[in-house]
Amino acid sequence: MRLSREELKSLMKNKMHKAGLSEKHADMAAEVLTWSDERGYHSHGAVRVEYYSERIAKGGMTVDPKFEFKKTGPCSAIFEGDNGCGYVAATLAMEEAIKMAKENGIAVVGVRNISHSGALGYYTEMAADNDLVSISFCQSDPMAVPFGGTEPYYGTNPISFGAPTADDRKVVFDMATTVQAWGKILDKRSRHESIPDSWAVDAKGLPVTDPSLVNALVPIAGAKGYGLMMMVDVFSGVLLGVPFGSHVSSMYHDLSEGRNLGHMHIVMDPSRFTDINEFKKNMSTVLDELNANPAAEGYGKVYYPGERAVMRREEAYANGGIEIVDEIYEYLKSDDIHYDRYDHKNRFAD
Ligand code: NAI
Repeated sequence: MRLSREELKSLMKNKMHKAGLSEKHADMAAEVLTWSDERGYHSHGAVRVEYYSERIAKGGMTVDPKFEFKKTGPCSAIFEGDNGCGYVAATLAMEEAIKMAKENGIAVVGVRNISHSGALGYYTEMAADNDLVSISFCQSDPMAVPFGGTEPYYGTNPISFGAPTADDRKVVFDMATTVQAWGKILDKRSRHESIPDSWAVDAKGLPVTDPSLVNALVPIAGAKGYGLMMMVDVFSGVLLGVPFGSHVSSMYHDLSEGRNLGHMHIVMDPSRFTDINEFKKNMSTVLDELNANPAAEGYGKVYYPGERAVMRREEAYANGGIEIVDEIYEYLKSDDIHYDRYDHKNRFAD
């Protein structure tokens, strides 16, 4: 099923509002989810609405949070999320970080005690839209082994960087620090297909190709990705005084409890380091030069980070709208808030 941006956003907004979220918060959350689906990041779009609605309805997301923005210095602040909607808290915190970076050159804003905040590229693109460079990190529930280990300790701990250019292109590098998302393993399991041995490990911590034997995901790039995954948790967890590592709450453990997740935005004004117009012009040159790099056999073209996501968005609108799985569309337009499918599932929701 293909939907226009307006239709998809309004269906998602209405469902979360009906579950109990205020109209304003439901609208802001639906905006980030639509941003993800239209860029082909379907893992962080409409597919999540039923889970959020179940959490909202069961009280595990504060529907009228007492948000508090506390400056702790000229360039630093804490945004207290009161376990409200992560999309809303992370968006408002980025708006504050943008103001602070414009005023003081740099802003480091820690967001504490929130629920899931989704695709991080949304927030770093906000900074790029304001001619700022940025990094955003957040925690997610433990699913990945530390390099050489056997038990899940860290989440898929994503990181995103954003930068503006002199034209309408933006660099939005946005990735999980695991090789694959858990959803991809579930998909292979349901199709009775094997997985590459680089995706996950079994209970002994050894590479596995049978998806039914997966005990944990693995970090990208071995020990280096593990280090990156760890530092994401240091910046967005340990540094903010929220639960860290394997103590991070599981997405599905108890949908009546807040998740207390951490998220961090770091935003910098390029004009404090170099001429802003020169910077933006050079960023455009970088992208042109990368695109002009001769492609290796089988690759077609060299893309810059975030380019393919924008191409997917343009393709979707050229082909009649954003593609949504029929089953999800049926749920979105139904009167049902949720089907009680997620509460107290294990960390992999299988
Ligand atoms: P991905 O693997 O699709 O892409 C990762 C990055 O690589 C992107 O910046 C993309 O532009 C770039 N890229 C991919 N192919 C490329 C190519 N051929 N040439 C140049 N660049 C290329 O993304 P991933 O890791 O699957 O993450 C998907 C989304 O999930 C992200 O938005 C991430 O923030 C989100 N996420 C959120 C979590 C949370 O708990 N909030 C947890 C994990 C992921």
